[in-house]
Amino acid sequence: MPRLDRMDRLRDAFYTPDVLAQKVLTAATIRPSSVMDPAVGDGSLLRAAMSTWPDVRVYGLDIDLGQIARTRTRYPDWTLEQVDMFSERSRAASATWKSTGANIDLVVLNPPFSYRGGQSKRVSYDGSDYALTPASTFVAQSMTRLAPSGEVLAVLPAGILSLERDADFWSAVATHRTVETVAEFSSTAFKGTRTRSVLIAIRPSISPRPAAVVDLPLRAHSCVELVRGRVPVHSLAKFSPITESAPFLHTRDLAGLADRVPPLPQAASSLATVGPFVTLPRVGRVRGEHIRLVRTPKSLVLSDCVFALRTENIASLEVIQTVLLEGLLELQREYVGGCAPYLTIRRLKHFLAQRGYCCHHVPASGSSALARTSSCESDMSQVHERLGI
Ligand SMILES: C[S@@+](CC[C@H](N)C(=O)[O-])C[C@H]1O[C@@H](n2cnc3c(N)ncnc32)[C@H](O)[C@@H]1O
Repeated sequence: MPRLDRMDRLRDAFYTPDVLAQKVLTAATIRPSSVMDPAVGDGSLLRAAMSTWPDVRVYGLDIDLGQIARTRTRYPDWTLEQVDMFSERSRAASATWKSTGANIDLVVLNPPFSYRGGQSKRVSYDGSDYALTPASTFVAQSMTRLAPSGEVLAVLPAGILSLERDADFWSAVATHRTVETVAEFSSTAFKGTRTRSVLIAIRPSISPRPAAVVDLPLRAHSCVELVRGRVPVHSLAKFSPITESAPFLHTRDLAGLADRVPPLPQAASSLATVGPFVTLPRVGRVRGEHIRLVRTPKSLVLSDCVFALRTENIASLEVIQTVLLEGLLELQREYVGGCAPYLTIRRLKHFLAQRGYCCHHVPASGSSALARTSSCESDMSQVHERLGI
């Protein structure tokens, strides 16, 4: 697509590259007769649907009249209409919205994520009212068009399922459908934006058949290594510089960490932890600035007041950092104790498991097993078996 102008940016017109759109469609577990994209843009998700199921009926809506006209010129057989999904009046006036009813087999979606001014959208869903972020609003509205056996495949901001503002809505969806993060996209997957995103599948509680292969840059599962720092700060005084050393990372240094590690005191490197990783304090009150992505592959000696989380690659570390930041209020509640609250390994594992992560406690020394094999191999094979890949 040509360069994005200001209006494109306001509408979040960051279109899905065709190769990614094709991969999104491989997550479908049904053979749909009808597919709708309520933020159709230049039609990449519907194009992928047409190439997967050539006789499928496709419906595309978008607020951008000019883009609807261009997509219509290119695909005269598609049903396309200008609709503002945030406006009840616009939806009610749409012939496509009215005629499709709750009969669409598959909704594909890469909605606008931007949350300018933090203004929520009021939405009614399944008899309750919510104030949601724009992306969740799109999901809620789209689901009113969905057949009972239908599916939604939505590219959404990473961490959206644990976002406090939207959590009640997603819990409501999960009471009668399966909600699953089936893939993560790196922050560079979409041209023109650095927002991290995930692919969420919403399916009937019992899916008719397993999904097909979802491969890189999509991932079907998220394994995390959890390292608990071992070295007390007072032991530094005893450290003799004759031994091999590495920078020592204490809780008070977390807030000052940038992409590069600043000069830090040295400690004996026998318990050093290999990066990259995401940090958080084990002891003390966790704040957003403690949750840092340390990109260096070098080793650091973690104080016994620090946890580090390692995943397979930087992209999934970026996602887990977002998940922690967006769940910060809930994470803070996991720290127990009076004057020096602390987080236990069990509580951290539970917090991550609730967000779809499979977490292994590993020793502070040594490199990550995730990059070589996978310490989650058995979990992965179960997931693969379930997905039929
Ligand atoms: C991230 S793009 C995705 C386009 C396309 N689905 C794709 O995957 O390439 C978001 C699209 O949402 C459209 N959009 C933004 N606000 C909208 C609204 N209120 N109602 C309908 N469409 C909207 C934009 O014009 C843009 O085409």
